[in-house]
Amino acid sequence: MPNNTHLTLTAPRRLRGVITVPGDKSISHRAVMFNALARGKARITNFLVGADCLSTIQCMQALGATIERNDTTVTVQGVGVRGLREPNDLLDCGNSGTTLRLLAGILAGQPFFSVLTGDASLRSRPQRRIVEPLRALGATLDGRSDGDRAPIMVRGTAMHGGTYTLKVASAQVKSALLLAALAGDAPLQLDGRIDSRDHTERMLAAMGVDIGIGLNSITLFPPSEDHASRLIPAPLSLRVPGDPSSAAFWWVAAAIHPDAELTTPAVCLNPTRTGALDALQAMGADITIRAERMESGEPIGDVTVRSSNLRGTTLAGELIPRLIDEIPVLAIAAAWATGSTHIRDAQELRAKETDRITTVVEGLNALGVQAQAADDGMHIEGMAGAGLRGAVLASHHDHRLAMAWAIAALVAHPQTTIADADAVQVSYPTFWETWHSL
Ligand code: S3P
Repeated sequence: MPNNTHLTLTAPRRLRGVITVPGDKSISHRAVMFNALARGKARITNFLVGADCLSTIQCMQALGATIERNDTTVTVQGVGVRGLREPNDLLDCGNSGTTLRLLAGILAGQPFFSVLTGDASLRSRPQRRIVEPLRALGATLDGRSDGDRAPIMVRGTAMHGGTYTLKVASAQVKSALLLAALAGDAPLQLDGRIDSRDHTERMLAAMGVDIGIGLNSITLFPPSEDHASRLIPAPLSLRVPGDPSSAAFWWVAAAIHPDAELTTPAVCLNPTRTGALDALQAMGADITIRAERMESGEPIGDVTVRSSNLRGTTLAGELIPRLIDEIPVLAIAAAWATGSTHIRDAQELRAKETDRITTVVEGLNALGVQAQAADDGMHIEGMAGAGLRGAVLASHHDHRLAMAWAIAALVAHPQTTIADADAVQVSYPTFWETWHSL
C-alpha cells in the first residue's frame, strides 16, 4: 500500500446525497473462502475490491481454487473441503486478520503444511486466541512468541470434535473453529461468547451445512464421507450486501453535520452488525430504516440519517461486539455530542489494526476534545456542537482511523490534514472519491 498520502480537508456547508457503499468485507471474505471449499462454481457480485479481500482471493488461489475477478464480480471454482493442495510458498494475508484467522481454521484440518503471515500490523496482533483452541481440537500450530504472533505455521490433521467455550466475542475465532470442524469427523459444539457477527453460521447453513444454532451454543455436524455429503458445502452464488461498517461513517457524518441528509441503500442489517444504529438512536440521531428484505440469509435495507442534536451515551456490555469496528467513528459522534460518553468492555479494541483505544484518544485530543483512555475503553467529553479544532491526524495505516478522521473533518475548522490517508484501500477504496463528491 502506498504510504505518505497526506490529504487536507475543509468542512463543507451542506451534505446531501445517496451513497452506495461497497460490499460487506466480512461477507466478501467468506463468500470466496467457503465457495472455494464447495465443489462447483459460484458467482459473487458486489464483492468488496479492498486489499483485505484481495488477500483472501490470492490465498485461496494458492490453495488450489480457481478464482477469477472482473471488477466487483468474482467467480470461484471450488475444489471441495478435501480438495485443497499444499501451497508452495507462504500465504500472505496482508493487513487482514479475517484472512489469517479463518484460514488457520481451514488449514488446521488439511493434511499438509502451510504458513500464514502478513504485514507488520498483522504480525503484531494476538493469535493465541486461535492457536490455543485449534490445538485443543487436535491441530498442530505454532508461531512466534510461543504461538501468539504470525508467521503462524500449521501442520494440518484430522480434527476431533467436542465442546469448546469461547472466551472472547470474536467472529474470527468462532469461524476458525467452525471451519476446522467442517473438515473433521465429529460434531463440534461452541458455547460461551458466541455473540459475535454470525455471517459464517448463516452462509454455511445456506450452503447446506448442518449447523444448529441454540440460544447459548452452536453445533456444527461435519458432512460425512458418503457421496451425497461430499457435495456439501454446496456452491452459493450471491450478491454481497453493502457494508454497514462502511455506511456507519456516513451515518455519523449526517448526524453531526448541521445541514445534512444522507441515505445508504442496500446495506446489511444483520442484527450482529447494527449496534452503531442503536447507539446513534440512543444518542438522539434522526434515523429512518426502510425496505428490509432477505438475500442469501442476510437482512438488507436502506438507512437515512439527518442532522441531529446528539447527546452523550454509554456503550458497554453486549452492545460492544455489535459495533466494535464502528467505535472510531462513534467516538467522533461522542466528541460532537452534548454531555459525556463512556465506552467500556471494549478491550478488544486493543487487538485491532492499531490499539484503537490509544490511537482514537490521541486523535480526539489533537482535535481539541477531552478524552481519556481506560483499560477497556474510553471517556469522551462532548463539545456540544462547538467546532472541532482542525489538526494533523495520523491514520497509523489503520483504515478505520483514516475514515473516522475524515468524518471529524466535516465539522473541524479551519482544516484537517490526514497522514497516510491511503489506508482506506483496505476496506473502502472509493472512500475519498465519495468524500469529495459530497
Ligand atoms: C471480523 C470480525 C471482527 C471484526 C473484523 C472482521 C470478521 O474481528 O473486527 O473487522 O469478518 O469475522 P474479531 O473477530 O477479532 O472480533
